[in-house]
Amino acid sequence: MNGVHSGLPILDDLDAEGQRVVVRCDLNVPLANGAIADDLRIRAAVPTLRALLERGARLAVCSHLGRPKGKVVEDLRLAPVGQRLSELLGTAVTETRDVVGEEAATACESDIQVVLLENLRFEPGEEENDPAFADELASLGDRYVNDAFGASHRAHASIAGLPARLACAAGYLLADEVAKLERLLHGAERPYVAVLGGAKVSDKLGVIANLLDRVDAICVGGAMAFTLLVATGQKVGRSLVEEDRVEEVKGVLEEAARRDVPILLPVDVVAADSPEVGSPHKVVPLKRIRDRMGVDIGPRSAEQFAEVISTAKTVLWNGPMGIFEIDDYSHGTSAVASAIAAATRRGAFTVAGGGDSAAALNRLGMTDAVSHLSTGGGASLELLEGRDLPGIRALREATTMGGDRR
Ligand code: 3PG
Repeated sequence: MNGVHSGLPILDDLDAEGQRVVVRCDLNVPLANGAIADDLRIRAAVPTLRALLERGARLAVCSHLGRPKGKVVEDLRLAPVGQRLSELLGTAVTETRDVVGEEAATACESDIQVVLLENLRFEPGEEENDPAFADELASLGDRYVNDAFGASHRAHASIAGLPARLACAAGYLLADEVAKLERLLHGAERPYVAVLGGAKVSDKLGVIANLLDRVDAICVGGAMAFTLLVATGQKVGRSLVEEDRVEEVKGVLEEAARRDVPILLPVDVVAADSPEVGSPHKVVPLKRIRDRMGVDIGPRSAEQFAEVISTAKTVLWNGPMGIFEIDDYSHGTSAVASAIAAATRRGAFTVAGGGDSAAALNRLGMTDAVSHLSTGGGASLELLEGRDLPGIRALREATTMGGDRR
């Protein structure tokens, strides 16, 4: 693995035979009325768990779900996740009602092959990276594997605390995500096009800044485009704008111009009275948006983006082009997804990152439209900003392999 994250201890080198392995996964899946709305993250966790089971390890799988803030929230118990995991693994999964209490300790000391600990964030020590909590968690196993790419930007006990306590390694998902995303930062084949969308420009400014000397063009859609349009002096009606970011955006646009990186912004939009289902709406050139709000990019913009994408050998896509959850406002996102799928078919390396892009591809039934669909939202953005993620740093720094370091 090349790049800033090389040097990660890897699963195949971890002596896990017959050991109890604490495996941190990111099983933080979207729920709708208590049911799992998208199981991508659970499916992505399976290869590592299966490989460990094949090596005779017993597993203590752990994850967070939602943001219960250190308290038990009944709706955020991991039970539905455990059930789906059991189906996917084809093995019984024993869920404990506590994270590090007596029930968890007894289950982890037993012969049970797969224990799923309760939601880590029910314990305040998890987010506080409390050493006492990390000790308790570590006492449940002999080895530690971090396969939670999507949570590796959090310096929490199960992520940043365990590598210093147990012999450890990166799971297959974590290693694969890091390798694929680093390909976007180091030695990507040109032309390289980034397509960015989503609601907030503030989430993406760091990524734009880090990509400017790597990409050949950036296409911007979604609500974040309106802040860029305002920064170029255009009127955007009642569209969502982050006023407090306009000056910063002007700086980024100037930097892009200095480096000769074209930033393509929407020239037409779907303009609606409100961002709700059934609101009156129509496609208009941007300058005719009047007092309506932009809820999707228009067909001319989608065509321009598709044309640029059609030249690319590398594509990064992060964030939808409009409110894709509403059919009438999903056409821009679906046009961009189709253009990226075509690029993938002709051999371009294409990556979609960020929870919403994955959700959009899922909704469109196009999850195989890209070479790599990242399970990380915030984690993939931070990595693309060029930051060293706490979970990855902790693994790299834990150099002792194969021994019990407690
Ligand atoms: C995510 O959904 O991006 C990860 O699971 C991290 O969740 P968090 O933002 O609540 O830390």
